[in-house]
Amino acid sequence: MSSLDYYFKRAVKEKWAIPQFNFSNLETLKAIIGAAKDLRSPVIIGTSEGESRFLGMEQAVSLVRNFRDQFNLSLFLNLDHGKSFDYCKLAVDKGYDTCHFDGSGQEFNENIAITKKVVKYAKSKKIPVEGEIEGIGSDTLTDPEKAAFFCRETGVERLAINIGTSHGGEGQIQLSHLAKIKEKVGSLPLVLHGASGVSDEEVKGAIKSGIAKINVNTALRKAFKDGLKEVFGEKEEEIVPYKYMSKVVERIKGVVEEKIKLFGSFDRM
Ligand code: 13P
Repeated sequence: MSSLDYYFKRAVKEKWAIPQFNFSNLETLKAIIGAAKDLRSPVIIGTSEGESRFLGMEQAVSLVRNFRDQFNLSLFLNLDHGKSFDYCKLAVDKGYDTCHFDGSGQEFNENIAITKKVVKYAKSKKIPVEGEIEGIGSDTLTDPEKAAFFCRETGVERLAINIGTSHGGEGQIQLSHLAKIKEKVGSLPLVLHGASGVSDEEVKGAIKSGIAKINVNTALRKAFKDGLKEVFGEKEEEIVPYKYMSKVVERIKGVVEEKIKLFGSFDRM
């Protein structure tokens, strides 16, 4: 399997984005894998702290490795929004392929100090790190100069930026602001969080303007719930999980496929 760095270099150069899809159960993962396999897309599989606690880090690592080996796919497991050095270290030690330290809730210099510590530890295990300044959904957009300074100081491999989106909510991408960040940060991959609530046109614009990784979670969670509602609406008495869950998997897979096509990551494996 090619490295994550290989895919990021290509994504930046060829102007497409590597998708990150989050999961906390086997059905969602099966849907993501099915779409990645059919569309030959490299995929980052994410678990937030909460998702990783529910599922178990060991289980997340084993499941992703198992699918990767069985189908020869380019899958990378990422800790999404790790909030402390210790939790990021744990993910690295348990076998995650990459991690995101989110120090956006910290004062800027403190964020730099902890991010540096995470990068130093992760680098010793050859694990790339995503940093973040200005929380996604906060009123303050990421400052271009600060972003460039943060990347130089910390040595992160990619940066999550706030350009107007929010997790699970509606948002509007500030494309001109993104262009200013891109100009300062150069070829370092930029990450868009909170992509479920923005239009396809905006997503395309963001990719053109330098976004190389896009995180999706809420759209999958909604598909899961809608799928369940649909099957129980039709067959309230159904009790066989593998029967009603296959409808749910199908529905999530449809959403994952749409996103892969929108991000341009198909046929890149
Ligand atoms: P959404 O829940 O809005 O898709 O955002 C996901 C995300 O950014 C995870 O880090």
